[in-house]
Amino acid sequence: MQDFSFHNPTKLLFGKGQVSSLKKEIPAYGKRVLLLYGGGSIKKSGLYDKVIGELKEIDANVVELGGVEPNPRLTTVNKGITLIRDNRLDFILAVGGGSVIDAAKAIAAGVPYDGDVWDIVTGKAKAPSNAVPIGTVITIAGTGSEMNGNSVITNWDTNTKAFFNSNHVLPRFSILDPALTATVPRDQTVYGSVDIMSHVFEQYFHASGNAPLQERIGEAILRTVIETAPKLVNDLRNYDYREVMLLNGTLALNGLTGMGVNPDWATHLIEHAVSAVHDIPHGGGIAIIAPHWMERVAAVRPEKVAQLGVRVFDLDPTGKTDAQLAAEAIRSLREFWASIGAPTKLSDYGVDDKAIELMTDRAMLADRIGNYVPLTREDVRTILRNSL
Ligand code: NZQ
Ligand code: ZN
Repeated sequence: MQDFSFHNPTKLLFGKGQVSSLKKEIPAYGKRVLLLYGGGSIKKSGLYDKVIGELKEIDANVVELGGVEPNPRLTTVNKGITLIRDNRLDFILAVGGGSVIDAAKAIAAGVPYDGDVWDIVTGKAKAPSNAVPIGTVITIAGTGSEMNGNSVITNWDTNTKAFFNSNHVLPRFSILDPALTATVPRDQTVYGSVDIMSHVFEQYFHASGNAPLQERIGEAILRTVIETAPKLVNDLRNYDYREVMLLNGTLALNGLTGMGVNPDWATHLIEHAVSAVHDIPHGGGIAIIAPHWMERVAAVRPEKVAQLGVRVFDLDPTGKTDAQLAAEAIRSLREFWASIGAPTKLSDYGVDDKAIELMTDRAMLADRIGNYVPLTREDVRTILRNSL
């Protein structure tokens, strides 16, 4: 294991009806609130009215910014920064999915920063420590953004999707009511399930030795998703399945399985590059790219892929080499994702080979990306080609 420090103070309020905690939680941070939300799902579901009701009870001054895009955009982040500065707001309430919460984090970090917030997102500048406090009401299981310091933002002027991580933008509290996720459509439910599994993979395929507990925790999350997702996609309003999936999403990317390990993240860098050029849903892109990435790394280091096959997909290792087990594991993963209806080819989203070089450029943040098996530019190009 590597030495590490771990600090995750996000308070989780989990369960049915927890939205009514807003009136208790928000006043500690101030009553001048930026209410941030997405394209309208919260209005259709009635959540918007409930949130406004809570804010009224504490006499909050509310400024709204709706329309945060899936794959949230820098232009929207800048709008939020301006609204907070102009109206002297002191708190951001993000109600929605990972996109809304990620936008909230970039806004929070950008307000006290004199320069361009894109400098923070791309890591050229550090997020200031006095970021605006954030609270969240999460409405879709997947990213884990409700309990981490990550924010992923797209700049359409340059076709770049970049991310930053800062403890200063960790949500102060997050409300996780599984009932609020009951309206998530089937495709987004599938993308969320895939995303959760890939967050485990990114940390499971690490470059550090001796992390058996972190790996076992990751395997437990993977097995729980594999057990739950097929039932959930056929029974979208089932509360029990929704609550299991919501907690899976939070624990897959709140630092728990990443303690003391040097994680990989190449699959995410490649997917972000695809989204930056083609604006496809994140989990859909991951479902397509991850098996091709796994094939590439299994060719060099099959042992961990073999372990995944035995421990998560219950493969019988008797008389098989790691390479054979790894190939079976990847087949099992593909079959599982196909069985819940995940996409398998980028061409399903209308992506062709025209932008392969641009996407490869965007993914290559360094000469090599990923840590379990560092990938060259040629590797990334091949993974993208194979994904078409
Ligand atoms: O915009 P609205 O109308 O709310 O609709 C959304 C959106 O169309 C809809 N939705 C969300 N909750 C719903 C619902 N529809 C009906 N009922 C509900 N209860 O679902 C669509 C997708 O929402 P989005 O927030 O984009 O999904 P997700 O949570 O998957 O977030 C994706 C973004 O997060 C980034 C991705 O790159 C992408 O930009 N990621 C963030 C991470 C993080 N912060 O740690 C890690 C991830 O790896 C990921 O990169
Ligand atoms: Zn992800």
